[in-house]
Amino acid sequence: MSLELVHAGKVRELYDAGDDMFLMVASDRISAFDVVLAEPIPDKGRVLTAMTVHWLALLADIAPSHLVSADPADLPAEASALGGAAGTGALAGRAMLVRKASMLPLECIVRGYLVGSGWAEYRASGTLHGTSLPKGLEQAERLPEPLFTPSTKATEGHDENISFEAAVDLVGKETAEEARDICVGAYRRAAAAAESQGIIVADTKFELGVIDGRLALCDEVLTPDSSRFWPADRWAPGTNPPSFDKQPVRDWLDGTGWDKKPPPPALPAEVVTATRERYVTAYERISGKSLSDWYGATP
Ligand SMILES: Nc1ncnc2c1ncn2[C@@H]1O[C@H](COP(=O)(O)OP(=O)(O)OP(=O)(O)O)[C@@H](O)[C@H]1O
Ligand SMILES: [Mg+2]
Repeated sequence: MSLELVHAGKVRELYDAGDDMFLMVASDRISAFDVVLAEPIPDKGRVLTAMTVHWLALLADIAPSHLVSADPADLPAEASALGGAAGTGALAGRAMLVRKASMLPLECIVRGYLVGSGWAEYRASGTLHGTSLPKGLEQAERLPEPLFTPSTKATEGHDENISFEAAVDLVGKETAEEARDICVGAYRRAAAAAESQGIIVADTKFELGVIDGRLALCDEVLTPDSSRFWPADRWAPGTNPPSFDKQPVRDWLDGTGWDKKPPPPALPAEVVTATRERYVTAYERISGKSLSDWYGATP
């Protein structure tokens, strides 16, 4: 029997693992400017998975999560077929068994700094997700308080930034308030931990779902793909600080004059290597652990 593929995203695949569980597999694919590049970044899937597991442990008292196990020994036998000739070995460190959740129709974004689409909105209208902010803030400025700034989960096209009131209309007051409290609490804890390692979590996106009647942290958690990490020594208000992990890719792509429409140019080996280093360093600095101690390390 083979596991049924239920969802394929740009970076991850989701398989039905029976017993109300999914197998979530993070690939080594990388996207930049919303386009998936042809060259995989070795170990990126392991970094995304190790990072999620690291944070879920640190946040366990803030909310339950969907994680059952990332131990390759716990993967269903059928998973070996997904790894081709290498069997489950090819999935080691990149796959997580999770509980199926009933997902909220929201992207639960928390912003600690004014950047990206938040900065674009503020510059145009002085608001952030419809709420007025003080005048005169600069790009990448730290917000007085981290803000819960949800967006819709668009099945096609781009997600739309919405106000807290619009989130209440979508999921109800009690759920929206609980989601906000969980996400802001998780952001505060994570941002403080990362800051002590010289990394700023500018913003991050959580996805929450209901498991056994309780809101739980699902999806990936505080990874480089769901968050903006900045090296603290490269941050200054009024600038657009480099992202910790994808910057070598973005810089190189910018230098080619590519029009950001597929197909993207082929990444040279040294850009792949530099990007891999960044992902591994982000994990190791933030977690204080070595990636070689995580499942799936090549000896
Ligand atoms: N425990 C869970 N139960 C049910 N659905 C989940 C769970 N955890 C995550 N999901 C959903 O699984 C999907 C994971 O998809 P993935 O992130 O790989 O791709 P995507 O978000 O559709 O696209 P993108 O490539 O833009 O990220 C998301 O729709 C997410 O909401
Ligand atoms: Mg996603």
